[in-house]
Amino acid sequence: MKFPFKKVLVTGGAGFIGSHLIEALVAEGCQVTVLDNLSSGHISNLDSVIDYISFCRGDIRDLPTIEEAARDCEAIFHLAAMVSVPQTVERPLESAAINDLGTLQIFEAARNNNVGCAVYISSSAIYGDEPQSPKHEGMNPKPLSPYAVHKLSGEYYARLYHELYKIKTTSLRLFNVFGPRQDPSSPYSGVISIFMSKAIAKSPPTIYGDGNQSRDFVYVKDVVKACLLAAKAENTAGIAVNVGTGSSLEINRLWEMICQITGVKIKPQYMSPRPGDILESVADLQRAKSLLGFEPEYSFEKGLAHTFEWYKRNR
Ligand code: UD1
Repeated sequence: MKFPFKKVLVTGGAGFIGSHLIEALVAEGCQVTVLDNLSSGHISNLDSVIDYISFCRGDIRDLPTIEEAARDCEAIFHLAAMVSVPQTVERPLESAAINDLGTLQIFEAARNNNVGCAVYISSSAIYGDEPQSPKHEGMNPKPLSPYAVHKLSGEYYARLYHELYKIKTTSLRLFNVFGPRQDPSSPYSGVISIFMSKAIAKSPPTIYGDGNQSRDFVYVKDVVKACLLAAKAENTAGIAVNVGTGSSLEINRLWEMICQITGVKIKPQYMSPRPGDILESVADLQRAKSLLGFEPEYSFEKGLAHTFEWYKRNR
C-alpha cells in the first residue's frame, strides 16, 4: 500500500530515531515539516534530507509554534521528548511540561488543524518492573519514573483524542532502540552506543550489576517501519502497540558480540546495579504482527554491523 499522506509533521525530527523516520518519509515522497528545539537532537542528523524538508526550530511547549508547524498537515509523528529517564527523575516538572503537556498540545494542534492521523512514540518503560515476560499490551502499567508516567499519560491522551475528536491516534511502545546516530555522549545514553564507542576507543565498558540482565534491542530501521505501518493502519486507533523484536540479549553477551565485531578483547568493569534497573525486558509482538503486520527485518547481528560501520566513520 502506498503511503497515504503527502504533508506530514515530525516532532523531534533532528533526533536519532526521528532523523531515520524523515529519510523514509522523504523517500515515500512526503513533504515533511520538522519541529525540533535541538535540545538533544542535531541538525547534522538531517544532512541527507535537509534540502527536501522544512525545518522549524521550536519547542512543543509553545502551542502557537506547533499550530504553525502543523498547518495543512495530514499526519503527525510525535517523537519530541525529554528522553533521558534519570533526567526526568531529577527534573520532573520540566519533564511534565515537555512530555505530558507538550504531548497534549500536539494532539490539540492536530485537532485545531484537522490533522486526521497521529503516531505517538511511547516506551516500554510504562511496564516498569512488572516481572511477567514477555511484556504484552494487556498488562497493567507500572511506571517507575516521571518519564514512564508522562509516556503513559500521552497514551491516554492519544486514546482520548481518538474517542472524543476522531483523530486516528496510535501509540507505539518502543523497546531498546539502537542504530547509527544514537548519541553515546551521556552516561545515560543507550548501552549499545556507549559500548560501541568504548570498543572503538579500546577502553573497558562498565557493566552495571552482574550483566545477566537482558533487553529487547530493536534496530532503528525496524522502528521506522513500525511508524509507517502505524500511520497506514486502519485498526489501531486509540491503541498502544509494542515495537521490539520478541527476543532478548544479555548485557554480558552484548559486550562479547561488540568485541567480536570490533576486533577487540577487553574485559568489562563491573559496578553495582543501577537503581531501578529491570532484569528482563522483551516484547510480546502478537499485537504488532496482527494489527500492523509488523515483522522486524533486521537480525541483531545485521543491525549491529550497520551500527558499527557508522560509529567507525563518525567516531
Ligand atoms: C531504555 C531506554 C529508556 C526506556 C527503557 C524502557 C535508552 C537510553 N533508555 O532504558 O528510555 O524507558 O529502555 O524499558 O534507550 N548498562 C550497562 N552499562 C552502560 C549502560 C547501560 O551495563 O554503560 C546496562 C543498564 O544497566 C541496563 C542495560 O544496560 O541494564 C540497558 O541500559 P540502557 O541502554 O540505558 O537502557 P534501559 O535502562 O533499558
